Amino acid sequence: MTMVVTPWEVRGEIDYDRLIREFGTKRITPELLERIKKHTGDLHFLLRRGIFFSHRDLDWILDEYEKGNKFYLYTGRGPSENVHIGHLVPWVLTKWLQDRFGAKLYFQMTDDEKYLFKRNLELEEANRLAYENALDVIALGFDPDKTFIFSDIDYAKTLYREAIKVAKRLTLSTAKAVFGFKNSNNVGEIFFTSMQAVPAFLESVKTGRNVPCLIPYAIDQDAHFRVARDILPKLGFYKPAAIHSKFVPGLLRGGKMSASDPRSAIFTVDDPETVRKKISAAFTGGRDTAEEQKKLGGRPEICSVFRYFEFFFEEDDRKLEEIFSECRSGSRICGDCKEELAKKVIGFLEDHQKKRERARDVLEKFIVRD
Ligand code: TRP
Repeated sequence: MTMVVTPWEVRGEIDYDRLIREFGTKRITPELLERIKKHTGDLHFLLRRGIFFSHRDLDWILDEYEKGNKFYLYTGRGPSENVHIGHLVPWVLTKWLQDRFGAKLYFQMTDDEKYLFKRNLELEEANRLAYENALDVIALGFDPDKTFIFSDIDYAKTLYREAIKVAKRLTLSTAKAVFGFKNSNNVGEIFFTSMQAVPAFLESVKTGRNVPCLIPYAIDQDAHFRVARDILPKLGFYKPAAIHSKFVPGLLRGGKMSASDPRSAIFTVDDPETVRKKISAAFTGGRDTAEEQKKLGGRPEICSVFRYFEFFFEEDDRKLEEIFSECRSGSRICGDCKEELAKKVIGFLEDHQKKRERARDVLEKFIVRD
C-alpha cells in the first residue's frame, strides 16, 4: 500500500527515512542526544529508543539554551474523540522536557480545526471535547504555573489577531501545494493552518522579545510547521524548532492507533474488561500453534503487543530486551505476553483515570481564555 502521511491521513507502510528526506528534516543523531544529556542528566526512553527520531533546528535550540536564551514548548491536540495511548506519547516527552529544561508550555486544543474538517462534528461538541481532552494532558503531571492550555474558540481574540498576520502571507497556491487542498475544500480548512502557527510565536508576542520555540509532535503534523517556518521570519520571529515522533502502531494488523477504529486503540477511559478484550484480539508476531512458536520463535519486530511495551509500557531497556529475546527464542508465548501487557495497561489506566478525575478540580489553573 502506498504511504500517505498528511495532518489528516496516515496510511500504508511508514518509511521514516523517506519522510526525513521528503519533508527535509534531520535525523536525531547520537551526538545530539549526548548534547541533550549534558543538560538533563539522563535521556527519556522515547529519545533513547529513537521513537523521537527526527528534528528541525534542535541543535540551534541547544545553542541558544547554552547561551542562556531559554526556549518554550508548544504542542497540541485536535479534540474530536477521546484520547488514546498513541496521543500520549508526544505529551509524555513534552512533560519530560518541561521538567528538565524548566520550560513553559502552550498547549493548543484545535476545536475549530476539528469542526471544520469533520463532517459530522458540531462545534459545541468539539469545544466540549477540548476540555475533556485537557484532563488527560493535566493528568500527565504538567506544571500548572508553566502550562497554558487553550481552546482556539475560547482564546480566539488573542489568536485571531496573530493568525491573520500569518494568513496574509500565505497564498492559496502554497496552501494547495503543501496540504493538497482542492476546490472542494471549505475556506475555513484553508485558513486553519494560520491558527496552528500562532502558538509557535505567541510567547514572543506576549513578552515583546524573541523567544525560541520547540514543538514536539508526531511527524504527520509537519506540513503545518513547514508553512510556519517559512512565514514567521517574515513577521520578525524565529523559525520554530521541532522534534518528531513515530506513530504508535495500532493493535490490529498494519496502520497506526486510530480513534476511528476503536479496536485498534486503547483509550484512556477504557475499563479493564475492554482493555483485556482489545489486547487479546491484538495482532502479534506469533505462529499458528504453540508448538510452532516454540520451534520457530515469535516475530517481535512485527508484533503490536511488543510495540506497546516499547513505546509506552516498559521503560526499562533491559526488560524490553528480555521480552524481545524470549519472544525470538520461542520461550515466550503470545497468550502470556498479552496477559502481561494487559496487566500493565490496566494498572496504568487505573492511576491515569484517578488523576484525570482529579484534574477536573484544577482545570481552570491550566486554562487560558479571553
Ligand atoms: N492539528 C493537531 C491535531 O489534529 C493539533 C495541534 C495543534 C498540534 N497544534 C499542534 C499537534 C502542535 C502538535 C503540535 O492533532
